[in-house]
Amino acid sequence: MTGQIHSPPFTTPLSHTTAMNPLTIQAVQHSWAQVKPIEVQAAALFYRELFSRDPALQPLFKGDMAAQGHKLMQMIGAAVAKLHDLPTLLPVLQALGRRHQGYGVIDRHYATVGAALLATLALGLGPQFTPEVEAAWTEVYLLLANVMQTAAATA
Ligand code: HEM
Repeated sequence: MTGQIHSPPFTTPLSHTTAMNPLTIQAVQHSWAQVKPIEVQAAALFYRELFSRDPALQPLFKGDMAAQGHKLMQMIGAAVAKLHDLPTLLPVLQALGRRHQGYGVIDRHYATVGAALLATLALGLGPQFTPEVEAAWTEVYLLLANVMQTAAATA
């Protein structure tokens, strides 16, 4: 024994700069592949869940909701596909977060959107929405939301 004090391997305090657990990535990618074929219904369900939780969010959306739903699903799909490559994904999310500030989105809206997204996945996946899948999506959504919010706050 040398009595040496070990320092941590790195000192970065931001958890999102470290790689994600491959099992989390796998659970999210696998379950998203099951949502993909029903993405039109899933998007509609998502907005229903969202506006039932907070009707005051509806006026923030100015455009066609079918087109908006498509953009949302595309972006979630793109993010899910890049979870193993955070250096590529993070700048995309940061830009998205800054744009959201311009749409009138504030911090507490992210929790409502997260709850609506998880409820949508629960309904869309049925019994395949296991506790593991729920935990994996919770972690991934928190990552996306955290990066978007931080970028908006420092814009
Ligand atoms: C992971 C979280 C989110 C993702 C992936 C996401 C994705 C998107 C995408 C792809 C767009 C299309 C425009 C663009 O690319 O800038 C968009 C627009 C928008 N999002 Fe989000 N979003 C998220 C969170 C939120 C939250 C928390 C809110 C709060 C209610 C929100 C409200 C809006 C609004 C109001 C628009 C503009 C609609 C319009 O142009 O009429 N989003 N979002």
